[in-house]
Amino acid sequence: MEQQKKVMLSGIQPSGDLHLGNYLGPLRHWPEMIEEFDCYFFMADLHTITVRQNPADIRRRTLTQIAQYIACGLDPEKCVLFVQSHVPAHTQLAWVLDCFTMFGELSRMTQFKDKSAKNAENINAGLFTYPCLMAADILIYQPDFVPVGEDQKQHVEICRDVAVRFNGIYGDVFKVPEPYIAKVGARIMSLNAPETKMSKSLPEGCVFLMEKPEDIMRKFKRAVTDSDTERCVRYDPQAKPGVSNLIQIHAAATGKSYEVIEAEFEGKGYGAFKPAVGEAVVECLRPIREETERLLADKTYLEQVYRTGAERAAYVAGKTLRKVYKKVGFLPQ
Ligand code: TRP
Repeated sequence: MEQQKKVMLSGIQPSGDLHLGNYLGPLRHWPEMIEEFDCYFFMADLHTITVRQNPADIRRRTLTQIAQYIACGLDPEKCVLFVQSHVPAHTQLAWVLDCFTMFGELSRMTQFKDKSAKNAENINAGLFTYPCLMAADILIYQPDFVPVGEDQKQHVEICRDVAVRFNGIYGDVFKVPEPYIAKVGARIMSLNAPETKMSKSLPEGCVFLMEKPEDIMRKFKRAVTDSDTERCVRYDPQAKPGVSNLIQIHAAATGKSYEVIEAEFEGKGYGAFKPAVGEAVVECLRPIREETERLLADKTYLEQVYRTGAERAAYVAGKTLRKVYKKVGFLPQ
């Protein structure tokens, strides 16, 4: 008999356009993850409104992001892909968890402190209780693992603390999930500031998945190379951060090794190298962009994907929610 797969869950905020750093980093490894685990992926739209947003942008980004994930290889037949706000059980459980999370604990969250420093005019209650909603997102599916980046570690820890606390009072209701250090892939740096990670907040150094080939080429042609006198294509992240980043991108896009790339461009200088990396990236992203565009033109299909996803998610989430409601003493309907 086939062994039951472990359960993995991840939420992604539809707050920006996906870029090359996302793709060559974690995203690329997700198709392998759905083979190994039973995966739940959702667009965390509820989380985005802790900061003011433009409604039309949230809608567009949520749909685009679903299409992009499918185009990147997340087969919706093989995982549960849905939109957080379509499954009301998340917010229903969040209220219960609000009542089992302490003011002091939430006050110590570094993300809350950072975000309230940056948005002093809008320190709302949602920003403060954000970790409770995230804990609900997680615990409601009883996952074994939650993949975490550095910025979300503390949120997974508080989720575990709340689960342990709740279980201590009511018996084993929640599985206590483990953080999962996902394969990160390449750590892609900004094209015009190679000491910082590629990010949408530095758009000139950032290549978006949906960008036109000519724009991608322009960004690569303008990429910062290093001011050392050697001017040769050699991987050395200390001495040559800009060129090394480009070698890394070329390698990730084509599957070639650093040595092969160095040999290919020996004696050719940066003027030939930069457009070659651009072309490699254009070719690597082309099928993803085309598939995303095709999917976005087929709204009926996308609707069917997220409706089915929400139904499957709601079924599992409902079971946990009913158990929790019963344990805390709410009169059954
Ligand atoms: N807070 C996460 C982020 O900003 C998104 C998120 C919401 C999430 N709920 C989650 C991630 C549950 C993992 C599990 O990136």
